[in-house]
Amino acid sequence: MRITIVGTGYVGLVTGACFAEMGNKVICVDQDIAKVEKLKNGIIPIFEPGLKPMVIESFKKGVLSFTISLEDALAETDIVFIAVGTPQDEDGSADLTHVLNVANEIGQKMQQPIVVVDKSTVPVGTADKVRKTIQDVLDERKKNIEFDVVSNPEFLKEGSAIKDFMQPDRVVIGSENENTIKVLKELYRPFTINRERFIQMDIKSAEMTKYAANAFLATKISFMNEISNICERVGADVNMVRMGIGSDNRIGYKFIYPGCGYGGSCFPKDVKALGKTAEDFGYKANILNAIEKVNAKQKEVLVQKITARFGNNLTGKCFAVWGLSFKPGTDDMRAAASLVIINGLIAKGATIKAYDPKAMDEAKEHYFKNQRKITYCKNKYDALDGTEALVLITEWKEFRSPDFERISSLLNQSVIFDGRNQYDKQMLKKYNYEYYQIGVK
Ligand SMILES: NC(=O)c1ccc[n+]([C@@H]2O[C@H](COP(=O)([O-])OP(=O)(O)OC[C@H]3O[C@@H](n4cnc5c(N)ncnc54)[C@H](O)[C@@H]3O)[C@@H](O)[C@H]2O)c1
Repeated sequence: MRITIVGTGYVGLVTGACFAEMGNKVICVDQDIAKVEKLKNGIIPIFEPGLKPMVIESFKKGVLSFTISLEDALAETDIVFIAVGTPQDEDGSADLTHVLNVANEIGQKMQQPIVVVDKSTVPVGTADKVRKTIQDVLDERKKNIEFDVVSNPEFLKEGSAIKDFMQPDRVVIGSENENTIKVLKELYRPFTINRERFIQMDIKSAEMTKYAANAFLATKISFMNEISNICERVGADVNMVRMGIGSDNRIGYKFIYPGCGYGGSCFPKDVKALGKTAEDFGYKANILNAIEKVNAKQKEVLVQKITARFGNNLTGKCFAVWGLSFKPGTDDMRAAASLVIINGLIAKGATIKAYDPKAMDEAKEHYFKNQRKITYCKNKYDALDGTEALVLITEWKEFRSPDFERISSLLNQSVIFDGRNQYDKQMLKKYNYEYYQIGVK
């Protein structure tokens, strides 16, 4: 099939690369000229395991191309996916400016019948707005061109996006148009060959499904963080409690790790946006509001532990930080816990030596631009040299089994603040570490 993807970020680029891999002809459109130029030259602007070789190969074969011109792309397209960002607006709602701009442009530029797919995470009712926007422009143009708008929310996870897209748990399609459903089923068939994974529903339910999924996962995280804070106060060990409850298969082990709060480009804004939607419809979403509050406080827990140990004035003290991205496997730092923790330590006078396997350029160029109190190190051990303590924020695999003797020889004092409860307390005792975890006294 001939496909256009508008928005070449984490979702758009992965979607485009995976559809191209299955033999479709894909054109990726982005308004960011620099990004498009990079992609044409084989430079992938984001880190996502396995993405680079796929993009380069399909580009060389001519089945995947990049442009800034939606008009050129639409001339050769049967299905257009909208995969642009839906950031948080000032009032907490999802900002639909990019989505509706694209809808407007589709209306301006389309010349033949087309299926428009909302892949961006958008609030209930957005497909109607997209449809109206396109229809209004077509009316202005006095053109009678058939089109349909469907919802197809994306559930991929950064860090395993290719695998998630290639072997989805489910493909949700919100549409009541049988012809459109047939086209999308055909497009996704190669990804769902070993068993039926389509869940077909009305558009509003599809839009809601994405928010409900993210809000539920965020609930699990905040719930466990709340339990961890109670554990710490009563003298229980949350690591034990986690195993104790995870073994119940109604609860399960996934997403119940205590930590320093969720971040990323999705959970924070999606939980807020769902709360705002509820409010707009006259419902106060108490659980959603609580998830966010717990999460915001959780991001401060490591700083509180550090000041409890080193005092409130950290002037002259340097801390080693392992991990900057909001989770392992990505260079994405949007709403990462590292931002709150590092800024919190710097505000108290500390300096930082940081190491992250993939996110250091992102940190230097965007999130901590001009921040002179951070030194970036070329490996995890360099970051430790002459610092007061190791602060582990992101659970990258390379941090799982470090050389504890070497760590101890590099640190001024053998102190570890572990924001992800990665290490074995008994084993660290052997090396005489002071070991601070989340949810353990
Ligand atoms: N990142 C994830 O893990 C993930 C997972 C599932 C769903 N989503 C949702 O998918 C959507 C996209 O997320 P993302 O992380 O890929 O975003 P992103 O910010 O990485 O990329 C969005 C891209 O859209 C481009 N863009 C914006 N307006 C445009 C326009 N008018 N024309 C052409 N290009 C335009 C931007 O330049 C940018 O490259 C969001 O709604 C997000 O909530 C994200």
